[in-house]
Amino acid sequence: MHWTKKDLLGLEYLSKEEIELILETAASFKEVSRRSIKKVPALRGQTVVNLFYEPSTRTRVSFEVAAKRLSADVINISAQESSVRKGETLIDTGRNIQALKADIIVIRHSASGAANILARNVEISVINAGDGWHEHPTQALLDIFTLKEKFGHIQGLKVSIVGDIAHSRVARSNIWGLNKLGASVTVCAPKMLIPPGIEEMAVKVTYDIEEALKDADAVNVLRMQFERDEQKAFPSQIDYFKHFGITQERLEKAKKDIIVMHPGPINRGVEISSEVADSLNSVILEQVTNGIAVRMAVLYLVSQTKERKDEDTD
Ligand code: CP
Repeated sequence: MHWTKKDLLGLEYLSKEEIELILETAASFKEVSRRSIKKVPALRGQTVVNLFYEPSTRTRVSFEVAAKRLSADVINISAQESSVRKGETLIDTGRNIQALKADIIVIRHSASGAANILARNVEISVINAGDGWHEHPTQALLDIFTLKEKFGHIQGLKVSIVGDIAHSRVARSNIWGLNKLGASVTVCAPKMLIPPGIEEMAVKVTYDIEEALKDADAVNVLRMQFERDEQKAFPSQIDYFKHFGITQERLEKAKKDIIVMHPGPINRGVEISSEVADSLNSVILEQVTNGIAVRMAVLYLVSQTKERKDEDTD
């Protein structure tokens, strides 16, 4: 099948086949990363702009490495250092980046829906690098890619997502993607951090960490986003760790080969113990490495849509 979308805005909007195409393309790009010269000419002559309105380490660097491995030119814009500080709107910023002849904008923004709004207002491709509580599609894709590498399949896997579900774009994108590929998803958090109506996304809900870990093939541990928790839904980090922290003691009651994932940044001693984060069950740094191949695949596929459109209009 061909990729036909201009943008990547969320896994909600992708079919099972489109997700599988990204994963297959990522697998071939992972092979490129094993070569001594880790570069291909796929995006030579194209410009990728990383437009980040929120802090990021993994996603921004990973998109930059991915774009450079595809031979694209990369420009990084941090909102704090741009004309956004002078009151420029998101749409005007996007249209100016387009006028500067960029080909792809990778955007991170604190507002849910920001990537969708930008995509509707520019002709160039937009990739969502995380928008508010909405979606973080490339994070979920790299999580799913890592699961597929470990287990060989996604269909039938039991994946528990533990932590601040209410404020988590990573949880939402994982739920969309894993469900479409046939995994069974359980979410686990204190009651006030489970958003109302989450069951409509076809997930099981539990407030009991032991139950969430019991039969799971993988646990995806989320950061407690105390900075977004305006209502102070959970009293303290110490209490959270006591009741929901992923510890070695809790892991010993789970499947022996359970894999432990985390999108980062991790808060040691809050949602996960150092012992678990650094254990053999942990694939946290493998996820980061896989992010490069997944983002190469996404950049490549959206660039192919433009190329086909240009051929059609010639
Ligand atoms: N996982 C993730 O989005 O990390 P960053 O915030 O560092 O990009």
